[in-house]
Amino acid sequence: MPASATPSAQSPAPDALPALGPRFDGETVVITGGTDGVGAELALQLRDRGARVVIIGRSAAKAQGLIARSDAQSTTGSLEARTVDFSLMRSVEQTVDALADDLERIDVLVQAVGVFLSHVEHTREGIELDFAVSYLARFVFLERAAARGLVGPHTRLISLAATAPTTPSFARVEFDDLDAVTARTGFAGHAAAQTANDLLVASAPARYGVAALGYGPGNVRTGILRAQPWWFRTLVGLFPKRDPRAVAAQLVGLLTDPYWSASTPGWAGRKGRFGIALFMADARRQRAAIVASEQLHRRAVSVALGSA
Ligand SMILES: NC(=O)c1ccc[n+]([C@@H]2O[C@H](COP(=O)([O-])OP(=O)(O)OC[C@H]3O[C@@H](n4cnc5c(N)ncnc54)[C@H](OP(=O)(O)O)[C@@H]3O)[C@@H](O)[C@H]2O)c1
Repeated sequence: MPASATPSAQSPAPDALPALGPRFDGETVVITGGTDGVGAELALQLRDRGARVVIIGRSAAKAQGLIARSDAQSTTGSLEARTVDFSLMRSVEQTVDALADDLERIDVLVQAVGVFLSHVEHTREGIELDFAVSYLARFVFLERAAARGLVGPHTRLISLAATAPTTPSFARVEFDDLDAVTARTGFAGHAAAQTANDLLVASAPARYGVAALGYGPGNVRTGILRAQPWWFRTLVGLFPKRDPRAVAAQLVGLLTDPYWSASTPGWAGRKGRFGIALFMADARRQRAAIVASEQLHRRAVSVALGSA
């Protein structure tokens, strides 16, 4: 159900975001996973800098709360929401089609949608839930948005994942064998989603014509661990956490740095830009991930249509 907020005519609230810095007037920004965490903070900051921002998430209550907060602090830009379940690939396709009716183009696409599960759960379309939400939905979104002309050479894509300068052992996931891909659940499903996201960023300039940035935020103070057992949350809590507002501010800076390229994917984390991990640069791996994603997308949609 779409919800929207137009620029308020009132003066900014005392906690208004700083006015100085880059502007995004006239730009259309879509943030998947924009109702909470890093995506929500980025939505507030980009709207405050003049952008038309569309957030996508599941919770209508969170979306309305964010729009109210944004209206209270911003006198520029606009913020609207689409609430939809991105675990279902048919819903992702329908959302992109609805966006294509509303928007001329997407100038900035931030893919922040994700969950972090350790239990085993599958969607109604038969895909492991973490892989479906944290990765496959992003792939399907990009495929459909490119087919509908929403994304292309005019688009900067940012994808949030566990992106790092070297690929950690848990993320050395291969996609050649579809049975092995679909057998991964729990932490393995989450790790596969993180790796697949980076491989998608590596493929994105050639496949969609976009300028793409894979971004690893590090450990951020959000609700991403809400489905984890208490001991895991306690363990992760021992490490320093970044403020999501600071992460969003860094992303705003990265969106205006001079290094965007429509031919070469970029990579960045807490300390700034870095070179591509050799694992992700492998064209055979990138191709295998795309082929597996296409097969899973087809499978999910055929299950959805079969049960419609
Ligand atoms: N936080 C970290 O430490 C960290 C570290 C590395 C990578 N990341 C990655 O960064 C991204 C953003 O993380 P975050 O920490 O900001 O997480 P978050 O606060 O939990 O936000 C996740 C977003 O995804 C949306 N979402 C989840 N399931 C959905 C579904 N089925 N359909 C539609 N939307 C759904 C949520 O919407 P609702 O709330 O409305 O359901 C929310 O907007 C994630 O992909 C995460 O894996 C985070």
